[in-house]
Amino acid sequence: MQGHHSENFSRSMHQQTTSPLLTIILAAGKGTRMKTSLPKVLHTLRGRHLIDHVLDTASRAGPGRVIVISGHGADAVAASIRRRTGQYEMVIQEPQLGTGHAVAQCLGGLAGFDGTVLVLSGDVPKLRPETVEGLIRSRLETGSDISILTGYLADPTGYGRIIRDPGGKVTGIREQRDLHPDQESINEVNLGVYAFDAVFLTRELPKLRNDNAQGEYYLTDLVGAAVRSGSGAVTFAAEDHTEALGINTLLELSEMETNMNREYLKKLMDSGVRILDPARTWIDDTVTVEADVVIHPTAFLYGTTTVGAGSVIGPGAVITDSLIGRDVEIRPYCVITGSKVGDQAAVGPFSHMRAGTEIGPSARIGNYVETKMAVIGENSKVSHLTYVGDAELGNNVNIGAGCVTCNYDGFNKYRTVIEDGVFVGSGTMMVAPITIGKGSLVAAGSTLTKDVPPDSLAIARSHQSEKQGWAAKRREKLAAEKKKEKS
Ligand code: UD1
Ligand code: MG
Repeated sequence: MQGHHSENFSRSMHQQTTSPLLTIILAAGKGTRMKTSLPKVLHTLRGRHLIDHVLDTASRAGPGRVIVISGHGADAVAASIRRRTGQYEMVIQEPQLGTGHAVAQCLGGLAGFDGTVLVLSGDVPKLRPETVEGLIRSRLETGSDISILTGYLADPTGYGRIIRDPGGKVTGIREQRDLHPDQESINEVNLGVYAFDAVFLTRELPKLRNDNAQGEYYLTDLVGAAVRSGSGAVTFAAEDHTEALGINTLLELSEMETNMNREYLKKLMDSGVRILDPARTWIDDTVTVEADVVIHPTAFLYGTTTVGAGSVIGPGAVITDSLIGRDVEIRPYCVITGSKVGDQAAVGPFSHMRAGTEIGPSARIGNYVETKMAVIGENSKVSHLTYVGDAELGNNVNIGAGCVTCNYDGFNKYRTVIEDGVFVGSGTMMVAPITIGKGSLVAAGSTLTKDVPPDSLAIARSHQSEKQGWAAKRREKLAAEKKKEKS
């Protein structure tokens, strides 16, 4: 009997703590305090749009429909959302008459939905899934119409305050501008994230009024309706309210970004990555860096970049979506994008590896070298002032200073193939399509327009002639003329 009883109990607990989920993201506001033409939710944080971070929060909150409410910059917001995988709905709010009005634009989409409506804000990018889960659970466990995410702030100015009766029951949320003077000291604030009972929400939203200081339809006025309905509202306090802070100004955005960067750099340092100056180093959370890597000040590592153990990233490197192997040396001021650099290779200083570059193990790329769609074999050297594009270099190739693979004729791109062991003298132009056979040597200053067979010497330049004494005679003649002019 006892066992049966407890099984029933746990089953009913289970029923209480899960319900279908639908998420609404408020993102129609202009973000006036940003003072930028770019809509607020399209500002980037750690390389990704704010809205993208919030969509992450939504998808981690659980399966279910996600509706984004957009207004300012709706087309650009839609384009940002389309870049993600996953199904998202978008509803346009025009004009923007307040947060209650915003959610009311979804009423059509909510019809017939019975479960929890999670409301997130498009400008709150750091919310953890655990917090959202706790918020949803607190509503279900108490059977309330609303659960409000709250925090206790040392300076609550600007936030809606949680109003409670003497018994501690939530009776309302008051906006800063509608506060009675004696309510200003309340430091329990509404962080703008809510879990609603869907049936309650669809019933009460159309009844909202805008008789307040801002003449807006406040979503927060639904708390009063919940109290009147009897099921009431509860709060769920965020463990650390900073995760629920919204971005309102460019200063706040930069502070949040700096903090997030510092947190990630700390994690990397804790795992054995030597970062000389964390205040002047930027590494996206999506970047993997192995232990024993040394990163010099003003290095930037972005996107899906990974850096293997023992590598050194020099000052001013900007490395995006690239794979850097082990014991690699990236010398100062290199820009590397969408590329691979093999173990023990060295690059730079001042070189630019564009998308599709693959540098083999122990290869050497020197200074002022640009590569694009170029595979460079093991142990090969491209040391100075050279462009290698749409090219394939074998192993042990040596390219002299100032060489160019002429890959483009204004209309089409062509490939250059330089086989193993080829030595290309300085100042050589290789007009593609062209293949330079294994083991060949190209004389400096050549302009090659056709294939070179293996193991040959290719010279493609005009013959040299000398006119002995010519320069001396000219010098004397001109000097004499100058002298005559002056006298
Ligand atoms: C809101 C809350 C306040 C809370 C604060 C937390 C209301 C009435 N007040 O105030 O209690 O402390 O958030 O940050 O809800 N939005 C729309 N359409 C609109 C208006 C706003 O989509 O017509 C969006 C905004 O783009 C933003 C979010 O809703 O993402 C919040 O709007 P905002 O104007 O920042 O609300 P607050 O006045 O800060
Ligand atoms: Mg407002």
